[in-house]
Amino acid sequence: MSKQEVIICRNVGEDLERAVSSHAYDRLFVVADEHTARCCLPLVRDIPCMRDAVPVCIGVGDMHKNLESLAYVWGQLSEKGATRHSLLVNLGGGMVTDLGGFAAATFKRGIPYINVPTTLLSMVDAAVGGKTGINFNGLKNEVGAFAPADQVLIDCGFVRTLDRDNVLSGYAEMLKHGLISDTAHWSELLAADMEHIDYDLLQRLVARSVQVKEDIVAQDPRERGIRKALNFGHTVGHAFESFAMMSGRPVLHGYAVAWGMVCELYLSHVQAGFPSDKLRHTVAFIKENYGRIGFTCRDYDTLYELMKHDKKNVSAGVVNFTLLADVGDIRIDQTASQETVYELFDFYSETMG
Ligand code: GLY
Repeated sequence: MSKQEVIICRNVGEDLERAVSSHAYDRLFVVADEHTARCCLPLVRDIPCMRDAVPVCIGVGDMHKNLESLAYVWGQLSEKGATRHSLLVNLGGGMVTDLGGFAAATFKRGIPYINVPTTLLSMVDAAVGGKTGINFNGLKNEVGAFAPADQVLIDCGFVRTLDRDNVLSGYAEMLKHGLISDTAHWSELLAADMEHIDYDLLQRLVARSVQVKEDIVAQDPRERGIRKALNFGHTVGHAFESFAMMSGRPVLHGYAVAWGMVCELYLSHVQAGFPSDKLRHTVAFIKENYGRIGFTCRDYDTLYELMKHDKKNVSAGVVNFTLLADVGDIRIDQTASQETVYELFDFYSETMG
């Protein structure tokens, strides 16, 4: 898998012009959703290279990350004259970069594409690392391909357009990158004041966060080993996300991951010796900024079943975790008994309640 170029933008217009001009293309397409077509496309529309770009607009939200939207993008590319030498720009959050990336990876057996992520979550996670795909048959990311964008342009200016919840949602993945990388980055992340965001500081933290992800993906692009470190917090986090959805109170992905990290840090402490002071410090930050998800011991069986049905975290019927022996000291392919998992839920309820 070829490496993608990640550009931390000073001026998204100039950087996009440069990125697009580096390709010898015949037609340029830009995939956006109804929201980014309205709010973000006008910000780049006047850049000379974008004036003739053909817009392809899809529905907003994960429910549109499906075969119908993908077929629509393929159809628009086909009808509007795309060839093997055309170029696609994805302008949006993770749903747009995942689906648009998959459309590019498959149209005419693959055309080049550029990601311009517009949410913090997609800047530090979805748009970087080459995972593309759609939901299918009720399963998330069931069909897809590893197909990195040629360039990813990260402009934290877009973060200013997000509400606090969406900033915090992306920040949870940054916190994860801090935990799996080094103590200096981890403490910088915990020291940030999330009530009064310093956007210059955030831009620096985002650059470092993306670097953490890139370094891991470079070692293991297809998630056969160390890339599983990026799943830290997600085994329990996905169960919380599905539980919240089932209960009719959906939560943002990053919130579920933050709460999942509380449980998985405790498991790391118990099974891998993660230091208790760092556990306390991280949990305090999450409690202060993310609040908690409500559940009682009557919900433990449901949460455990959800973990067992998450294909990503289960092999041979056993739930897998990535754990940490310390910040940056990663242990992949760890397991825990049902009894231990229930102890994590107890820890969560006692600490976060
Ligand atoms: N979102 C985790 C990964 O890209 O591997």
